[in-house]
Amino acid sequence: MKNFYLSLIILLMWICPASPNSQNVKDRQNAMQQVREAVKVLFPIAKEKAEYDDFLVISMMEQMLEAAKPYATYFPKEPEVDVHSEAAETIWTDRPGFEKALASFLSDIEETLNAEPETLEQFQSLFAKVTNNCKSCHQVYRMK
Ligand code: HEC
Repeated sequence: MKNFYLSLIILLMWICPASPNSQNVKDRQNAMQQVREAVKVLFPIAKEKAEYDDFLVISMMEQMLEAAKPYATYFPKEPEVDVHSEAAETIWTDRPGFEKALASFLSDIEETLNAEPETLEQFQSLFAKVTNNCKSCHQVYRMK
């Protein structure tokens, strides 16, 4: 009997591949994970716990930009049902506000890239601006 249920589960998993809904959730979580990875490298630099390395700063900022650029496209027109997600309903009730928050994040990253900060001081103020976006967007558009 146990084997029967097991085969049934495997069969169901095989005939019902991940729905597009959950693919979206995966894509946006991956994107945010990449953003977090970059911040994990940049934060100690900003806090003077790691040596300033302009090449590393630029490449991490590029990674963040690439990951964040398509972010809004991972949110379908209607909120998903039955998915494990921290996306707040406000994304769908205030889509323009959400897209504006994302645009401001992207433009602050681009500003850092264009400035090509060569000194720690220059980088610190730009990085502070970039990371302010995390909190301000999460407060409104992410459930905890
Ligand atoms: C424009 C809005 C926005 C900005 C800016 C933003 N986030 Fe997010 N973030 C979200 C939303 C929405 C979620 C939840 C998405 C979901 O679970 O479906 C999230 C989720 C996350 C997660 C959890 C991912 C997971 O695996 O579930 C991490 C980590 C994260 N963000 C880090 C960051 C960091 C670090 C920054 C800034 C450098 C940042 N985010 C900027 C909207 C944003």
